[in-house]
Amino acid sequence: MSYKTIQHSETILTELMVPSFANFGGKVHGGILLSLMDKVAYVTAAKHCGAYAVTVAVEGVEFLHPVEVGDLVSLKASVNYVGNTSMIIGMRVEALNPRTGLVTHTNSCYFTMASKNEDGKLMQVPGLILENETHIRRFYEGMKLKEFALHKRKMMKSDFAHISLEEMKSSCLLQRCKIS
Ligand SMILES: CC(C)(COP(=O)(O)OP(=O)(O)OC[C@H]1O[C@@H](n2cnc3c(N)ncnc32)[C@H](O)[C@@H]1OP(=O)(O)O)[C@@H](O)C(=O)NCCC(=O)NCCS
Repeated sequence: MSYKTIQHSETILTELMVPSFANFGGKVHGGILLSLMDKVAYVTAAKHCGAYAVTVAVEGVEFLHPVEVGDLVSLKASVNYVGNTSMIIGMRVEALNPRTGLVTHTNSCYFTMASKNEDGKLMQVPGLILENETHIRRFYEGMKLKEFALHKRKMMKSDFAHISLEEMKSSCLLQRCKIS
């Protein structure tokens, strides 16, 4: 099996937030940022596996601060973890106000990408060379994230058939709903 360094695929994507990216509140639309995140995740994954990669799942997207029109957004991404056919790409998003020089950390998240061959079949990705403590911590975190994601996937597929309607009702009624 071949192994690659994290540095080999590290990618930074920078884009100026133009007025057409604004939402009705005058801030940058969340969908624009998601699209940029997907692009940088794709490039990082494709560089690591040396092939085509698809987005499988996204974890931890939280918009901590609004991004303003006129900001220069930078997305820094690297491979944190590799499984057999999947890779977890960690990214940090920052917005720079070029007039004031103020940099705001707007978001950190994880994209799971899977590698596919020309026939659209899943293919094994190269292993990852961990060179320092941060790399080891991120890889370990990725292992845990994958376990959590697969557990969540199983849960979402369940129709909760083992829970009675009465149990569901009493749990729902502890929340802000009325059953009429
Ligand atoms: C995602 C996809 C590859 C999963 O295929 P599958 O037949 O279920 O295959 P598997 O269950 O073996 O999953 C493949 C890998 O993805 C991982 N995976 C699958 N679902 C996952 C999830 N929800 N979260 C995290 N990882 C997941 C698996 O653990 C496996 O990783 P590994 O090989 O490193 O162990 C397949 O459903 C697909 O191609 N989806 C479309 C993806 C796409 O087109 N994205 C673009 C959006 S338009």
